[in-house]
Order: sequence, then structure tokens, then C-alpha cells
Amino acid sequence: MSKRLYIKTYGCQMNVYDSDRMADLLAPLGYGVADSPQGADMVVLNTCHIREKAAEKVYSELGRLRRLKAAREANGSKMVIAVAGCVAQAEGEEILRRAPQVDMVFGPQSYHRLPELVAKTLRGVGGIVETEFPVESKFDHLPEESIPRGTAAYLSIQEGCDKFCTFCVVPYTRGAEFSRPVADIVAEAERLVAGGALEITLLGQNVNAFHGEGPDGESWGLGRLIRRLAEIRDLERLRYTTSHPRDMDDDLIAAHAETGKLMPYLHLPIQSGSDRILAAMNRRHSADDYRKIVERLRRAVPEIALSSDFIVGFPGETDTDFAKTLRLVTEIGYAQAYSFKYSPRPGTPAASEELQVPEDVKSERLETLQNLLNAQQESFNHSFLGRDLPVLFEGKGRKPGQIVGRSPYMQAVHVEVPEVARERLIGQILQVRVTGAFANSLAGEIGTIDIDSPPSEVPSCQADEYGIGGVTG
Ligand code: SAH
Ligand code: SF4
Ligand code: F3S
Repeated sequence: MSKRLYIKTYGCQMNVYDSDRMADLLAPLGYGVADSPQGADMVVLNTCHIREKAAEKVYSELGRLRRLKAAREANGSKMVIAVAGCVAQAEGEEILRRAPQVDMVFGPQSYHRLPELVAKTLRGVGGIVETEFPVESKFDHLPEESIPRGTAAYLSIQEGCDKFCTFCVVPYTRGAEFSRPVADIVAEAERLVAGGALEITLLGQNVNAFHGEGPDGESWGLGRLIRRLAEIRDLERLRYTTSHPRDMDDDLIAAHAETGKLMPYLHLPIQSGSDRILAAMNRRHSADDYRKIVERLRRAVPEIALSSDFIVGFPGETDTDFAKTLRLVTEIGYAQAYSFKYSPRPGTPAASEELQVPEDVKSERLETLQNLLNAQQESFNHSFLGRDLPVLFEGKGRKPGQIVGRSPYMQAVHVEVPEVARERLIGQILQVRVTGAFANSLAGEIGTIDIDSPPSEVPSCQADEYGIGGVTG
């Protein structure tokens, strides 16, 4: 690899997946991934338009890049700057007007054309904007070869959204809902597993609306796809995100009960606990619909951990509406959740509502909600103290001698291990005894496993190799 490629990714997991695929597309052209923009031949900002703050970050980054690009040009070298993702799709030409140092702008559905766009730019064609939704699917044009990406991999199976929640830009930036054919997904999953992935997270803006064509010519739902993927022998864990309550069908819930590899954790955003606000958001489900789904899920998998997204200060939200959100959170009990102040987005219906909630009220509500959610998360984490959990170790922790992984419930778990063992343990699922519980993570120890009867998730050779007992004494 002779050229340096720096990709900065904002936003959701689908952008992470897309950024990786951009790197795969550019690798045959000699671009190797670099971890900083200094000295980069090409920089891609893969952007997010979901809230104003996310979108504005891009312009401050472009300011920094302008200086780097000028310094490189002064030395006779080039730096190609590309803006990709949802801001690119939403703003198109406007980006070139605000930031003329940008060489190309392309949306989430056209990045498969990247090699061609790079060639054009290097020939001196400037100011390329590629934001049409092409008739061909990018997935048919992405390389099969991919750079190995470790033990926990993402796989996009569905894109776009037809739901048009009144606050949301996604239907405009990602386009209409589209599901990939089952055979393509299975082939990609098999490649990921052959490359070392033990866990795959299936991605889609509305992942449980998946309706891909099966090899039998029928339309397959997500539950059926999950059962098929679970047959891949060396794949240990499956997850999917993000789901919409309306698409949580019986078959998918049954797949949770039947498929051991499907992790007992679900991110199921509700946004608000008030039916009046849910209707104004065009969510097309009530708070009780959501409660019933959670009941069905918990009947199928009693230990399932739940997560959600919330928006506070949606136009017209009163104290009474907000109290209903707090009540719903108290009733459901979340393992973790994300919450945001409503951010008016250009072109979405809610942005032009007259009854916008003042900023200070939004801030106050956000703080109240986050205090409640944080307390729930902390007590969820505390409930694991002294228990054993299988943890997939994904990388080094911040402190020396530390490795970090994920529990089945998505908790980050840190373990101190001898420096010599670190590399060997990363990429394995090991049983961990939880010894510390914090707001955002767990701490634990490896070495509490009985070597004679190791749990099924831990092959005994791994336990032997690590020298059980050697760590905790
Ligand atoms: N497809 C997913 C969510 C995609 S966006 C779903 O339907 O749930 C991720 C989250 O960002 C949303 O769940 C919502 O909580 C938040 N969000 C989206 N638009 C927003 C806006 N205009 N202001 C604040 N938060 C927003
Ligand atoms: Fe946005 Fe709603 Fe679609 Fe989710 S379901 S991506 S929140 S429009
Ligand atoms: Fe952001 Fe686009 Fe994802 S707006 S959240 S990057 S779909």
C-alpha cells in the first residue's frame, strides 16, 4: 500500500460498515488505512445528519483539513478530500459552496463508485457531487474481498426507511427501504466468519423490516434469516440493530427464544411514552403497543436486556407528556438507553411546527431523563456482581494489561491480564467472574472456570492455554 487513506466516521453503525467498505474499495488502488489525516493522500469524512450538532461537526473538521491540504500542496503533494454519508446526501452542492477545499461529495447509496470518482479527481476534475439514488444497488458493486476486521463484525442487510417519523432525516438521506437477498447476506456472513468474526451484528435503519428474497424465491423475514445465519458453524453470536416496534413480529420474537446464538439484548427505540407525542411523531404505535411487545419478548426470553432511544422536547411536548415518558421508563426498566434533545432538521415536518419547546426546558427534561436512565443502567450492571458471564474480548483496554470485551447484554467488560497473555486472549469468548460494576461498564476476572467442566462457550483448550487459576490465584 503506497497511499494513505484516512476515514473519519460519524453517526450510526451503518456508517461504520460503509466506511469499512470504502476502505475495501480503495485497497486495490493502493490505499492503506491510516489513523490520522496528517500526511494522508485521501481523507473521507463519512458524515451524519441526524441532529444539528452532528452535521455541524463536519464543517469544523473541514476547516482543519483545509490547512493540512494547503500545507501538503505547498510541498507539491496532493490531498483528496471527500465528504460522504448523510450530510453529503442532504446538502450536496452546498458543501462545496461552504468548503471549496472539498474535491468530492457522494451519498450513502453511491459510494461504490468511489474508485471511478477518485480517478476523475486525480485527472483534475474538481467539485464532483454524486447524490442521485442510483437504480443499481451498491451492494452488487462492492468487492467480495475485505480487509479482516476482527472478531465482532457488522453486516448491513437492509437500508433506508419508509416510515417518515416527522423528526427524522433518514428517509431522505438513505432513501427508500431496501433489503438485500438472503444468499448475498449468507455469503458475506460466511466470509466474515472465515476471516475470524465470532459475532455479527446485522444492520439496518429498520433492520426488523427486513424482507429479503430467499433462495426459495420467497420473501424472508428477519427471524428466518437469523435462524439461517445461526447455522454457520463457527459463528458464536448474532445481534441486530435498529428495530422499529411496528416490525417486531411473532416469528422474530420466537427466533429469540429458539436461537441460542442470538444475544439476549435488544435496542428497541420508543422515543416517547406519550401517545399524543407518538402520534405527532408519526410513529404509528402507542406506548401500550410497546409495553405489549416488551411483555411478549420477556415471555420468550425472560432475561432479555432492553435499550431504547428517547427524544425530549419534541414540538408540543408538555410536562404531562414528559411525565409519561418517565413513567414508561420506570415500568420497562432499561439496561441502557440513548436520549437526545429534539433537534429541528431542515425539510422534516416537525421542524416547522409552531410549538417548539424552549431550549432550557429541553435541557432540564434531558437531565431528568438521563438521571433516571443512568440509575437503571447502574442497577442493571450491579445485578451482575459475583456472577459469571461469557465475554467476547475485542481489544486492549485503556490501562496497560487490560483487555475489554462485551457481555451478551452489550455491557463493556474490563479484565486485567498479564501483558504476555493479552494478544492471545483478544478474539476469544471467555467466562468472566464479575467483580466490579460501574455506570458504564463491568470489571471482572478470568480464572474462575472449573477446567473439568468448562461452560459450552469456552472451549477447554482456551481455558487450558490461558492457565486457569493463574490470573486470580
Ligand atoms: N431507525 C431508528 C433510529 C435512527 S436515528 C429508529 O427508528 O428508531 C437514531 C435516533 O436518533 C432515533 O431513534 C432518535 O431517537 C434520534 N433522532 C432522530 N432524529 C432526531 C432529531 N431530529 N432530534 C433528536 N433526536 C433525533
Ligand atoms: Fe427515522 Fe423513524 Fe425511519 Fe427510524 S423509523 S429511521 S426514526 S424515520
Ligand atoms: Fe446519521 Fe445517517 Fe446514520 S443521519 S444516524 S449516519 S443513517
